[in-house]
Amino acid sequence: RRVGILISGRGSNMAALVEASRGDDCPYEVALVASDRPQAPGLIWAADAGIATFAQSPKGMAKAEYEAKIDAALRDAGVEVIALAGYMRLLSDDFVARWRGRIINIHPSLLPRYKGLDTHQRALAAGDAVAGCSVHIVTEELDGGDVLGQAEVAILPDDTPESLAGRVLIEEHRLYPKILAEFVKR
Ligand code: GRF
Repeated sequence: RRVGILISGRGSNMAALVEASRGDDCPYEVALVASDRPQAPGLIWAADAGIATFAQSPKGMAKAEYEAKIDAALRDAGVEVIALAGYMRLLSDDFVARWRGRIINIHPSLLPRYKGLDTHQRALAAGDAVAGCSVHIVTEELDGGDVLGQAEVAILPDDTPESLAGRVLIEEHRLYPKILAEFVKR
């Protein structure tokens, strides 16, 4: 299966997906990495790794026009499944409908807890004993579609949002390639 990855920044989850795709018997290949931020560090990493990249800033454009460009780039690359990896922009209902059931995302919380931003800070403030990450299907509702897999991380007494984020990120890099591989096979 041909996968397109949408990023906005660092792209460490994207890199984990690319690296896993090069392992034996991986059922997906990364056909395109696209970003809404032309300066995203992840784009440079992807290009260095020999992956086709596409950058399109939404500045000065209607959302529909911006998304049409992303959509065209994905289709031109033969993409069948989209993996969001730190893509910081809400997809429109129209875009989600066009790719219904074929977009997945990784989110740094144990959904349905802590949809949206600042997940680690909110887990610490709530006094939770565990945090984690979730891979889910993307629907019109933010961080709301069916959960495909999760990994848990114990919260330590001295954790800060940053220390917790670092340990959760390690689990993200393990979880996302595994769930994407399962997802493209189903
Ligand atoms: C990750 O924590 C991911 O769960 C969230 O945004 C962050 C992206 O990090 N959606 P990276 O760009 O993959 O390094």
